[in-house]
Amino acid sequence: MKIFIDTADIEEIKEAKKWGILDGVTTNPSLIKKAVEKFEERGISMEEYIKEICRIVDGPVSLEVKALDADEMIKEAEILYDKFNDVNNNVVIKIPINTAMSKEDKIFEGIEAIKELNNRDIPTNATLVMTPTQALLAAKAGATYVSPFLGRIDDYIRSKLGIKFGKWDLFRGKIVKKIEEKKQEEKKGEMPLLYSEMASVEYGDNGIYDGIEMVESIVKIYRAYGFKTKIIAASVRNVYQVRKVAEMGVDIATIPFNVIKEMICHYKTMEGMKKFTEDVVEEYKRIFE
Ligand code: E4P
Repeated sequence: MKIFIDTADIEEIKEAKKWGILDGVTTNPSLIKKAVEKFEERGISMEEYIKEICRIVDGPVSLEVKALDADEMIKEAEILYDKFNDVNNNVVIKIPINTAMSKEDKIFEGIEAIKELNNRDIPTNATLVMTPTQALLAAKAGATYVSPFLGRIDDYIRSKLGIKFGKWDLFRGKIVKKIEEKKQEEKKGEMPLLYSEMASVEYGDNGIYDGIEMVESIVKIYRAYGFKTKIIAASVRNVYQVRKVAEMGVDIATIPFNVIKEMICHYKTMEGMKKFTEDVVEEYKRIFE
């Protein structure tokens, strides 16, 4: 599994590169917004800052368009590609799978843009993917990458269930599914009113019970049809999610800096280090002198 870092913070990118585990970078407008002070501090322009990111990274760097309709997104993709791809030949254009923000808005602009950019040989990353069927359409349009946002799906389902959570909390939707099945089982034969009350509670999101399950479904669909689109597990919030997507053989996970750091830590490793360090005898130390 490739590891991308989900950040526009150049210091984090440099640090992860130094560790030797970095295969690429994903940014989005919110991550760029967070990085504004970074390039202001350095007294360079945003363009220079993004060029520096492209130069540092030996792997794809996703940069997102800001327009909402297909023609504008294609124009912006060309601009981003012209400005930044020459630096290190690694720019990928992030296109939202569906740019609609209300029911009146057009819903296939993202797909149209992906299709056209594919015709122009500009690599794309279909972003804000929240369902397996969106991922299916992205692959059919020829997206180079697809980014299912698994953490945000967990957030959405938890909010629907009224579960309080912090951004980094672990959520195992399959347990919620089991509780649902158990409760429904217990209600059988009881008052129909209670049963229908139970049935009206939505535990999942159209048959998906957590973000991990969404990614699993996309992996299954892509394998069934041999789609070439690479899957980037995105909106990753904790090491449990990293393990689950790695187990299912996802192509890439884009991971925030703090979660990459968590991947290397364990209390028993630390404890073991303390003991080994204490136990180094003088004779052994002399070998290194
Ligand atoms: C993906 O490429 C996005 O940048 C990202 O994973 C969003 O994650 P978030 O839901 O933690 O903001």
